[in-house]
Amino acid sequence: MPHSLKAILPPAADWAPGTWRSRTALQQPTYEDQQELQTSLAQLGELPPLVTSWEINALKQRIAEAQVGERFLLQGGDCAESFADCTSPIISNRLKVLLQMSLVLVHGLKKPVLRVGRFAGQYAKPRSADTETRDGVTLPAFRGDLVNSPAFTPEARRADPQRLIKAHARSAMTMNFVRALIDGGFADLHHPEYWDLAWVEHSPLAAEYKRMVASIGDSLRFMETLAGQSISSYSRVDFYTSHEALLLHYEEALTRQVPRQDGWFNLSTHFPWIGMRTAALDGAHTEYFRGIRNPIAVKVGPTVLPDDLLRLIDVLNPTDEPGRLTLIHRMGNDKIATQLQPLLEAVKRDGRRVLWVADPMHGNTESTSNGYKTRRFANIAGELDQAFDIHAAAGTRLGGVHLELTGENGTESLGGARGRVEQDLDRAYKSMVDPRLNYEQSLELAMLIVRKSGGMA
Ligand code: PEP
Ligand code: CO
Repeated sequence: MPHSLKAILPPAADWAPGTWRSRTALQQPTYEDQQELQTSLAQLGELPPLVTSWEINALKQRIAEAQVGERFLLQGGDCAESFADCTSPIISNRLKVLLQMSLVLVHGLKKPVLRVGRFAGQYAKPRSADTETRDGVTLPAFRGDLVNSPAFTPEARRADPQRLIKAHARSAMTMNFVRALIDGGFADLHHPEYWDLAWVEHSPLAAEYKRMVASIGDSLRFMETLAGQSISSYSRVDFYTSHEALLLHYEEALTRQVPRQDGWFNLSTHFPWIGMRTAALDGAHTEYFRGIRNPIAVKVGPTVLPDDLLRLIDVLNPTDEPGRLTLIHRMGNDKIATQLQPLLEAVKRDGRRVLWVADPMHGNTESTSNGYKTRRFANIAGELDQAFDIHAAAGTRLGGVHLELTGENGTESLGGARGRVEQDLDRAYKSMVDPRLNYEQSLELAMLIVRKSGGMA
């Protein structure tokens, strides 16, 4: 079609929730029984959504504010949620770590923090190979609880369409609990003691954290004295949800139209993202994402070329809509110095509106001598530290971070305030896929962000 004609068409006139099927869809499971799959998808299509279009539009507005430096995005949670981890302590501990980090950020950056969890739907994982072989036996790879189960048996590894329904239910339970906690005052800045984790007392960072809590409490009381009333709208926080929208059958079934709004919304989450492995310009994921109205993010790895990134932006945000597009760079501590700057320059030169976010986790994964996947805290902190400097030099803004963390007292990442070493990994390695930051390492990163932004931690 001539370019001029394309410009006057509504952006998604040639799009529908299922047009991705005409493209190559990477990282999808093979379902043996199509009838069984269709039955589950039909059932899923009838179930209520997990979020509303109002919330989605409110988040887009807040991301637009982050794009102009009025907010800082904190996005974090598990690499992969599991059905078994849909429990009260795991959900509330994860929320506590995110709240504590955001408190450090609010205190140090002196601006509102936009909190987005990697939860209530983070059940599908991309894998480097479709199959896994052990002792001469080859089975389909584990692709997350949305698809199959990690045990190495043919039954467990079968792609089971019933899991689509279960994942929706677990997501709804998680979301319901998070919403109830927050509505009930769990996240109220007047009561940061609700977020204390049992092991915080013994942390080398405890004293510094406690000082910040006391200082925020003082400021709140001061403002309330001035205003003559309790400042509940200042002291309550919001939480939004996000996940990698990988399994397109699932996402399509939850893509809906709503009364009095134009277009289609993915109502399984507020803020879906495209993973690094599925971000091809002509791929099925790009086709699906271009048509939904949600704010969306794309992971950008070290091999992406500036021109290709600009073409992707053309497709995903042709009208340069505020709040629509977030780019999450995940380069690796050893690559960010050379790979990031050309991308920042190209996007800036073209005047494209994006929110730049750093994921210092996924470019820094390695295997230890005893066979665990880990990440060194020094590399994670090093990548984040460099990211701030590279943005400053390019005249662009680093507007957020994307982290994998756990509220459990895990030892999956090496280093940090207590100098975790390889032997510690055996003690508490629980992550199903990627090693996550524990509580202390998360707080340490929050303090690093504040220092790099010129604030006081
Ligand atoms: C992830 O976020 O867990 C992930 C797989 O990231 P990436 O697509 O950046 O590798
Ligand atoms: Co991960």
